[in-house]
Amino acid sequence: GTVVLAYSGGLDTSCILVWLKEQGYDVITYLANIGQDEDFEAAQKKAESLGAKKVFIEDLRAEFVEDFIWPAVQANAVYEDRYLLGTAVARPCIARRQVEIARREGAHFVSHGATGKGNDQIRFELTCYALYPEVKIIAPWRIPEFYNRFRGRTDLMEYAQKHGIPVPVTPRAPWSMDANLMHISYESGILENPKVRPVPSLCAMYSDVCVIFKKSSLFPFLGVPVKVTNVKDSKVTSSPLDIFSYLNDIGGKHGVGRIDIVENRFIGMKSRGIYETPGGTILLKAHLDIETFTMDKEVRRIKQGLGIKFSELVYNGFWDSPECDFVRHCITKSQENVEGKVQLSVFKGQVYILGRDSPTSLYNEELVSMDVQGDYDPCDASGFIRINAVRLASRIIIPNIVISN
Ligand code: ARG
Ligand code: SIN
Repeated sequence: GTVVLAYSGGLDTSCILVWLKEQGYDVITYLANIGQDEDFEAAQKKAESLGAKKVFIEDLRAEFVEDFIWPAVQANAVYEDRYLLGTAVARPCIARRQVEIARREGAHFVSHGATGKGNDQIRFELTCYALYPEVKIIAPWRIPEFYNRFRGRTDLMEYAQKHGIPVPVTPRAPWSMDANLMHISYESGILENPKVRPVPSLCAMYSDVCVIFKKSSLFPFLGVPVKVTNVKDSKVTSSPLDIFSYLNDIGGKHGVGRIDIVENRFIGMKSRGIYETPGGTILLKAHLDIETFTMDKEVRRIKQGLGIKFSELVYNGFWDSPECDFVRHCITKSQENVEGKVQLSVFKGQVYILGRDSPTSLYNEELVSMDVQGDYDPCDASGFIRINAVRLASRIIIPNIVISN
């Protein structure tokens, strides 16, 4: 059969291309231009030289912005309060065109190089199943014959050498990157240790501090900072007032937390305001970080909604109300395990989180790691994705995409 492979030009997908050929498939490669920095011509030549039957390079930049980024902007889309979803919105955009090509070329198979532990496999495949329910998906990183053969980068390199696949000459970055018009993401490798600080700041004009959150014996004081240490001069502050004043100081110096907004008054009119909240802004970022690190995913979701409720109640003047009392109680309860250290740097109006560490962390490095299997079977992901696709694949899709070619 014929397979349309989402091809990046890199080592992994080049090996997948050749491997698919070895399995007897005709391979069509498809490389989407979604604004990443890439030599598309070189990738095209590479795919051709590796025996791709056809090579598609598709410029999806405009539709990526119009059909995917714009809706995210409309939604103010933010995942777990911080992540603007730059990879998540790109995947359906890439998969949509992949499926169009597969249909047009009469290919019954599509393939991708996403790992068996990630979100990307799900995003790619759900879109494929939704738009092309009969499609068969080949996810090599979930096929034992594939992942047992390619256990690490050395295996890929060896295979590449043997099959005339150009091997990368530049040393590999110690993490994996995903780049498009909207963002660049860095994951895996050395970043899998959550306290590792990726790049030392080159500038002297910054303040580096470590904020420590710890349980206090006083009941309401959970998930609040108990100590701040300045990394450069070792200055320590520990009373609540000193901590907050100190963060105001360093935040103020760097112009952190200044906003100019139009807000909606309870009374029903809009009003314009400018605020400077340096210490509060630093603590918001630090707390969000340690909270996500230590809190159960589902508890966090409920607590996030309660946080919005709490803010509205407070904004509208209902601090001393039974409902606000109740919400505060639940929020306090949610903070039971919010403990640990957050390293951060304050510089030029920004708060840069540099790493975190916690005795109550729920982070499982072995489980998430792209370098070891951990207690996780990638094959399980296939069923998980297929079950989630049942509903999507039974939907009747009215084709509205005109393919110009
Ligand atoms: N964790 C982010 C997400 O789930 C970024 C994923 C980056 N993807 C990648 N293939 N490097 O959207
Ligand atoms: C992810 O999907 O979350 C990143 C890992 C991958 O490339 O599969």
